[in-house]
Amino acid sequence: MNDITANVDKYLEEQSSLDLLRFITCGSVDDGKSTLIGRMLYEAQLIFEDQVAALMNESKHHGTQDGDIDFALLVDGLAAEREQGITIDVAYRFFATDHRKFIVADTPGHEQYTRNMATGASTADVAVILVDAQQGVLTQTRRHSFICSLLGIKHVALAVNKMDLVDFDRDIYDAIVRDYEAFAAQLDFEHITAIPLSALEGDNVVERSAKTPWHSGPTLIGFLETVDAHRSLIDESFRMPVQWVNRPDRTFRGFSGTIVSGRVSRGDTVRMLPSGEVANVDDIILYKDSLPEAVADQAVTITLDREVDCSRGDIIVASKDPSEVADQFEVNLVWMDQEPGHHGRAYWLKTSTTRINATLTDIKYKYNINTLEHLSTREMELNDIGVATISVDRGIPFEPYDSNRSLGSFVLIDRYTNSTVAAGMINFALRRAKNIHQQKLVVDKSAREAMNGHKARVLWFTGLSGSGKSSVADALEQQLHKRGIRTYILDGDNVRHGLNQDLGFSDADRIENIRRVAEMARLMVDAGVVVLTSFISPFRAERDMARRLMDADEFVEIYVDTPLEEAERRDTKGLYAKARRGELPNFTGVDSAYEAPENPEIHLHSGEDSVEICVGQIVAYLDSASD
Ligand code: ADX
Repeated sequence: MNDITANVDKYLEEQSSLDLLRFITCGSVDDGKSTLIGRMLYEAQLIFEDQVAALMNESKHHGTQDGDIDFALLVDGLAAEREQGITIDVAYRFFATDHRKFIVADTPGHEQYTRNMATGASTADVAVILVDAQQGVLTQTRRHSFICSLLGIKHVALAVNKMDLVDFDRDIYDAIVRDYEAFAAQLDFEHITAIPLSALEGDNVVERSAKTPWHSGPTLIGFLETVDAHRSLIDESFRMPVQWVNRPDRTFRGFSGTIVSGRVSRGDTVRMLPSGEVANVDDIILYKDSLPEAVADQAVTITLDREVDCSRGDIIVASKDPSEVADQFEVNLVWMDQEPGHHGRAYWLKTSTTRINATLTDIKYKYNINTLEHLSTREMELNDIGVATISVDRGIPFEPYDSNRSLGSFVLIDRYTNSTVAAGMINFALRRAKNIHQQKLVVDKSAREAMNGHKARVLWFTGLSGSGKSSVADALEQQLHKRGIRTYILDGDNVRHGLNQDLGFSDADRIENIRRVAEMARLMVDAGVVVLTSFISPFRAERDMARRLMDADEFVEIYVDTPLEEAERRDTKGLYAKARRGELPNFTGVDSAYEAPENPEIHLHSGEDSVEICVGQIVAYLDSASD
């Protein structure tokens, strides 16, 4: 074991001066992908994967050696995923030739592994797309290519494999290449390099094959060793996300981070985003050295000539060409979770620099990823790829993914489970909101509350159908009305006859139902009214969304808790019986979920307690809550 570790260390050290290319291989088992990877690793005199795995285990136990940059490179793709809570299986293999080091992401090719492929492609510079010479371009070839293009890969090697089985026939090869190029014209690739090869026999993998004298292009390894796929981010505008503010003592304040594009020199005028403040660069520090200039990929600390508003998660940019700041985007999404993504639902959006509250405001369409056809939908399911719009709580600086992967990508995170549910790529900002300034009016909520003589609120009743929400709300409203309080009841059955008559009981429709009701309740609270909403509102996410729309003390969640058996026994509307007979699909409690509140302000036990007792409990709460 120690010998192996020592050898691997030595090997990595020797290779440390070589430049690194990340690529992904796409194909199915039958295309000979494993054979090809095996041959590349073998011929390139790799370190075997299990040796690296042993090294990884070792380093976990003993701590990583200082300055062992290559080792970090080997695992950082994985580390990044782990940080984001993705548990996606992508095998990264590491090998090197005399000219370059390589990390190859090997992902399964089937459609149910789309998210794995997207994960692998997101850090790759090049894709090797395998086509079986006997089969030609297949549906899955198109799918793999689409995913690679979407994830920003610009350089493709079209590896036409198993040429030995078609007698190295040039016509067959040419036809496949033409076919592929015609399809790929719809995608965003910059270069496609086609190579006829036999992974099994080794033709044109490392050694040029005598059987393809008509092929003037490179071998596969030759291509990978020379392809110029690193985007020259140095020539782009200066961008540096602030990873931390370095303040060892009162006299020093530096902003540390990795420059993701462009260059910066002492004296340059830079701008902090989102604050927009401007300053000049005093010094650029790398370890202990002071540099006149730093460029993309360098991790540096920058000091400025004045105090500015800039903290961790902000971005320092070229003052003359700053990033856009926006709060609504059109994005591509790859859905990665079993639980579908819903139009209207709120998530956490995490970029490389910040985490922020976000709403999936619209799902424009999803792709049939085999044909690139657009399909209309309100839901994103596991492995779906689609185009959506997202709004976030405040403006964030960004770049379109196509011009900067690191500032244009994000993940969506479930607010409750904390798991990563989607990977996203920003296409562009939606400007809609820009020119709509909220009108500041003189007569405002507090003026209306003062005139009414009471606070405005929403009393949000939630519970199963037949739990007693409407009865309690009705009785409560009568009491409040007698006290001179301005009230209004928004009731599921009523609202669904008017405003929401277009909505049914699918998850997506329930989410939209509650979204509209919450927005309406907000307007009514603003009007100074005590609003009583009576909806099953079965999902935590939407109840919390409603809560976030109001001020802290304005939202009172009332859990009308009747056990399912009791609600079903009452069955006031005969709907449970219908649902049990299978005549009413998606019925809450029967075949559609109810997520009980975890921390409601008021918990009513309406299965046992009378309506009067429940009303008394609410009145007592309202009386004790300071007005
Ligand atoms: S919610 O889930 O979107 O909040 P909402 O409270 O508006 O539901 O409407 C629920 C009412 O619609 C029930 O009280 C019941 O009368 C009726 N209803 C009809 N079909 C269903 C169903 N599939 N699931 C639940 N309620 C239904």
